[in-house]
Amino acid sequence: MKPVIIGHAKLYHMDCMDLLRATPDKYFGLACVDPPYGIGMAGGKVGNSRVDYRKFAGNDLSIPDAEYFSEPRRVSVNQIIWGANYMTDHLPPSPCFIVWDKVQPAEFSMAMAEYAWASFDSPAKIFRQRVVGANKWRIHPTEKPIRLYEFLLTHYAKPGQRILDTHLGSGSSAIAANNFGFDFTGIELDKDYFDAACERIENAYRQQRMFP
Ligand SMILES: C[S@@+](CC[C@H](N)C(=O)[O-])C[C@H]1O[C@@H](n2cnc3c(N)ncnc32)[C@H](O)[C@@H]1O
Repeated sequence: MKPVIIGHAKLYHMDCMDLLRATPDKYFGLACVDPPYGIGMAGGKVGNSRVDYRKFAGNDLSIPDAEYFSEPRRVSVNQIIWGANYMTDHLPPSPCFIVWDKVQPAEFSMAMAEYAWASFDSPAKIFRQRVVGANKWRIHPTEKPIRLYEFLLTHYAKPGQRILDTHLGSGSSAIAANNFGFDFTGIELDKDYFDAACERIENAYRQQRMFP
C-alpha cells in the first residue's frame, strides 16, 4: 500500500494491523496511539457541538483485541496509549502515565480529563488545555489538540526517532510531528476521515512553510 506523503509524514489508509504485522521489531522510537475506547464515541453530536460527525470505522463499540496491544510494543521502543483506563487488562503496571486535563468545570457533560498509559520509567505528567468549545474547528469527534501531541513529542521523543500513530483520526499527531520535523507514520481505516485528515495535515504543512 502506497502512503500519502506530506512533509515528514507517511499516511496510510488501511487497517493498522496489516501494517504492524509487516513492521520490523523496534522500527519506531515512539508509538503514540489512540485506539477506539469502546464507549460508543463514534459520531453524531459530541458535547455541545454544533457539528454532526459521521460515524467512523469500527464505530467505537469495542477496544482492539489482544493482538493489537502486543504489536505497538513489539514495533516501537516506547509507547504512549490513550484511553488506557478502558484497556487495563492489556497493559502492564507502569510508573508513568499522562493526563490531558481539559480544564473544564465539574458540570462539563464529557470527561474532564483523558488518561494515557506510558512505557517510560519516569513520573506522571499533566498537560492542560481546554477542549475547543463549540467544536466548529474540529473534523473528528475525538480529535485531540495538536499542542497535546507537541507536548508528548517534546517530553517523550528523541531527535531522529520515527513516530507511529496507529489510529490517526483527525491527524493532530501528524501535524505535531511535521511541526517538529519527526519522521512520522500514521494509519487510518476510515476513508472519509483519512481524506479529511490528509487535507488538514496538508493545509497545516503549507502554513508551516509559509510562516516557519
Ligand atoms: C479515538 S480515534 C483517534 C482520534 C485521534 N487521536 C485524533 O486526535 O483525532 C480512533 C480512530 O481509529 C480509527 N480506526 C479504528 N480501527 C482502526 C484500525 N483497525 N486501523 C486504523 N484505524 C482504525 C477510527 O476510524 C478512528 O478515526
